[in-house]
Amino acid sequence: MSHHIVEVQDLTHTYADGTKAVKGISFRIHHGESVAVVGANGAGKSTLLLHLNGFLTPQTGRIRIGDFYLTKDTVQEIRKTVGMIFQNPDDQLFMPTVYDDVAYGPVNLGLSPEQVDKRVQDALIQTDALHLSDRPPYKLSGGEKRTVAIATVLAMNPEILVMDEPSSNLDPKARRTLIDLLSGFRHTKIIATHDLDMVLDLCERTIVIKDGKITADGPTLELFQDVELLAESHLEKPFRLQACPVCSGQKLPEKPVQMDDHAHTHDHDHDHHHHD
Ligand SMILES: Nc1ncnc2c1ncn2[C@@H]1O[C@H](COP(=O)(O)OP(=O)(O)OP(=O)(O)O)[C@@H](O)[C@H]1O
Ligand SMILES: [Mg+2]
Repeated sequence: MSHHIVEVQDLTHTYADGTKAVKGISFRIHHGESVAVVGANGAGKSTLLLHLNGFLTPQTGRIRIGDFYLTKDTVQEIRKTVGMIFQNPDDQLFMPTVYDDVAYGPVNLGLSPEQVDKRVQDALIQTDALHLSDRPPYKLSGGEKRTVAIATVLAMNPEILVMDEPSSNLDPKARRTLIDLLSGFRHTKIIATHDLDMVLDLCERTIVIKDGKITADGPTLELFQDVELLAESHLEKPFRLQACPVCSGQKLPEKPVQMDDHAHTHDHDHDHHHHD
């Protein structure tokens, strides 16, 4: 196993209509890292991610996954390693039932019917979607589609999960299920998202993209304190890092907090303020 499991070197991508979406991006992600890719609408996040398992081919630069450079010859093998959750779940679901969609990948891996069934059940249970098994995907709600799209990828047991806006359209409970699931996933994760609170929960490292280029790459907590960087990238400090409006200046806990915990943590201080 190679030390650097994902390496992108000088990647550029210009769409057919002349839009320069990626303008020279390079980074390395080590095995087991969890990395967020953030930036404004149109910054180039999806275009970048679509290269990581060969849906787009590098026009210049190159991409290495483990020991292999991504080429026409290696793309099939690399797709077994890299599971991709698309920004639009409709791009991922095309079978008559949810069960068939989740089974599609494992069947193509050549697994036995029993193994396929186990993969499907496990993936649907992990994502809280077992009750959707027999439904046609196109009749699901946006959040249900998203959840099933995630299950289709988990069923492949990928070593690297690449996710484009995995929490969009999810209700708070489904979002929390996803975050808990992903935090237990010990392999490499690359997550493009506008959900910076989720990034705080899942990604120790963040790459900021603006106009097709990387403007910052470093520890999430550090970058998210940089108000100027966030503003020029059309981002806002995650809720959890904003000062409490009642006890402004009070340092909030760094780790995930529920509203109840927050209230509890600050109970004492709030009393104090009332006496002021
Ligand atoms: N198929 C396409 N043809 C032409 N231009 C495209 C195509 N897809 C995307 N673009 C353009 O490429 C640029 C980058 O788009 P991309 O979808 O990668 O952004 P993004 O960072 O994922 O944005 P969002 O946060 O809205 O998902 C944008 O200017 C977009 O309009
Ligand atoms: Mg996108």
